[in-house]
Amino acid sequence: MNKDQFDYIAKFYDFIAAIVFGKAIQEIQLKHLPKIKKKSRVLIIGGGSGKILKKIDELGIASEVIYIEKSPKMTALAKKIRIKTPVKFINTSYENAKEYGRFDLIITNFFVDLLNEKQFQTFIPFIYSLLNDGGKWIVTDFRIHERFPLRSLHKLIHFSMVSFFRITVNLQNTKLFNYHTLIHESRFFQAESKKYAYMHMMFSSIFKKRKM
Ligand SMILES: C[S@@+](CC[C@H](N)C(=O)[O-])C[C@H]1O[C@@H](n2cnc3c(N)ncnc32)[C@H](O)[C@@H]1O
Repeated sequence: MNKDQFDYIAKFYDFIAAIVFGKAIQEIQLKHLPKIKKKSRVLIIGGGSGKILKKIDELGIASEVIYIEKSPKMTALAKKIRIKTPVKFINTSYENAKEYGRFDLIITNFFVDLLNEKQFQTFIPFIYSLLNDGGKWIVTDFRIHERFPLRSLHKLIHFSMVSFFRITVNLQNTKLFNYHTLIHESRFFQAESKKYAYMHMMFSSIFKKRKM
C-alpha cells in the first residue's frame, strides 16, 4: 500500500470530516482569506477535494491558483469545481512546487500534520523559498492543548484519527507538533494572527515572510 494515499478515501473524506468535526473543519480554513490582497498568485498544497477554491473565487483573491495534490482521485474531485479563477491542477508531491515559480500566498490546510518533525523543519524554509517578498503562508491544522482537561480530550481524538488513517491511507506520521510555535520561532516568518476552533483543537495561523 502506498504511503499517505488519500485515493482510498477520497470520495468519503469530506463526509467523514463533517461527521466528526461538523462545520468547524471547513470554517477555520476560511478565517484569514478575507484579509488577503486581491489578485494574489496562490499555491495550495494538499488541497484535497478543493472545497476552498469556491471561497477563493468568491473573494477574488487569486489571479491564478497552482493546486498541488498527490492523490489523483482528490485532484479529480477538485477539478469538477466550476469557478472563474484560473486553476492549474498538478497531480504530484509538494516538493515539485518549486517548478511553478513564486507566490504571494501559500495555503497548507490540514497538510503539515502529515509531515514528521524532520520533514516539517525542512518544509519551513522550503515554503519561504517559494514566496515573493512580503508573501504570506496560511497554515491550518490540529493541535494538542497545553493543559488538562482539553489536553486529554485532544490526545484521545488525535489517537482515534491516527488509528483510522493508518488503516485507510497508510498514514506515516502519527505525531502532532506545535506548528505555530515552530514557524513563529524560525527566522523565516513572523506570525500575524491565529484563530482557534473545535475546542481549541484546530488552529489557523497566518505568517508573513520575514526580510533576511
Ligand atoms: C488531510 S487531507 C486535507 C485536504 C484538504 N486540505 C482539507 O482540509 O480538506 C491531506 C491532503 O494532502 C494530500 N497529500 C498527501 N501527501 C501529499 C504530498 N506529499 N504532496 C501533496 N499533497 C499531499 C492528500 O492526498 C490529501 O488530499
